[in-house]
Amino acid sequence: MTSKQTELEKLAQIQSVALDALSGVVDLDALEAWRVTHLGRSSAVMAVFSSMGSIDKELRPLMGKAANEVRQALEAALEEKRQTLEAVALKQSLEVEKLDITLPGRPVTRGRLHPLTQVLRQITQIFGDMGFQVYPSPEVETDDFNFTYLNMPPYHPARDMWDTFYTTKDGVLLRTHTSPGQIRVMRARAPEPIRVILPGATMRYEQLSARSEIEFVQVEVLVVGKQVSFAEMKGTLDDFARRLFGEDARTRLRPSHFPFTEPSAELDVGCFVCNGEGCPVCKETGWLEILGCGMVHPLVLEYGGYDPTIYSGFAAGMGVDRSTLMRYRIDDIRHFRNNDVRFLKQF
Ligand code: DAH
Repeated sequence: MTSKQTELEKLAQIQSVALDALSGVVDLDALEAWRVTHLGRSSAVMAVFSSMGSIDKELRPLMGKAANEVRQALEAALEEKRQTLEAVALKQSLEVEKLDITLPGRPVTRGRLHPLTQVLRQITQIFGDMGFQVYPSPEVETDDFNFTYLNMPPYHPARDMWDTFYTTKDGVLLRTHTSPGQIRVMRARAPEPIRVILPGATMRYEQLSARSEIEFVQVEVLVVGKQVSFAEMKGTLDDFARRLFGEDARTRLRPSHFPFTEPSAELDVGCFVCNGEGCPVCKETGWLEILGCGMVHPLVLEYGGYDPTIYSGFAAGMGVDRSTLMRYRIDDIRHFRNNDVRFLKQF
């Protein structure tokens, strides 16, 4: 009887110690610590359960019941305390994080397309409307495609027109223009007629300045077929210029020279800054050069897999950066690639 008495007293003691401790708990962290100490695996109540085996057989049911009651009482007290503390915590957080629902919202800054992307898309759209496809071509090229197949054999002085980034791999370079794509599309399509543009990044080993960058975007135009004429080239490019610069844009073709076209020309558009009167943008000429063009050289057609006695073609190449500069009167080409959002936000 005494042993039963002491065991029951012990349990009552465990309960009152735990409840005492609970009254001192003031936050949820402390509550969790309390739970571990008084209800956890190595708590006093749990110890009573695990020592059941050593208790007299007749006493066991009684002790088990009593221990269970203590545990339930502690669990109930824990739950009650938790609710109280959670309510307090919520109230505190509401006081700290006061929300003024009458404040205006913070403006969401929206991303926008880079000016070069906008102009490139516009150019692509115009040629698309005129029945051209977009043909992708590689930015890392071989010397053959960038020069030789464009009628500039090794050591040809015309190669000096393009300051070139060579890679450490022999004969591999960063393309200096989109023209090598002409050979690639011809080889893929011959002898079918071709009507494509080849847009993309080009790289030149240049001194950085307000007017020149080492990386820029070009759009190459290529038409190959059985009856392609210089007149068709002129008509197509004039039409393109008017779709890009406006119905009454004036154009002129000037004789020029490129190794891969014969004859070659450059297309100027009347300066839209001064309307042809002469200003610093057009260097007082009244004209802005927008692209190089010409009839595809017979040798280039041959390198592309077309018989120049049957087929002819015209090609053109334009710099997107330059025309975007002029279009938006941007004073420094380096703005395009230094990712300053204050610049980019303006477009
Ligand atoms: N590839 C030339 C350049 O980067 C531009 C060019 C001129 C392309 C005449 C052409 C062309 O297709 O016919 O300077």
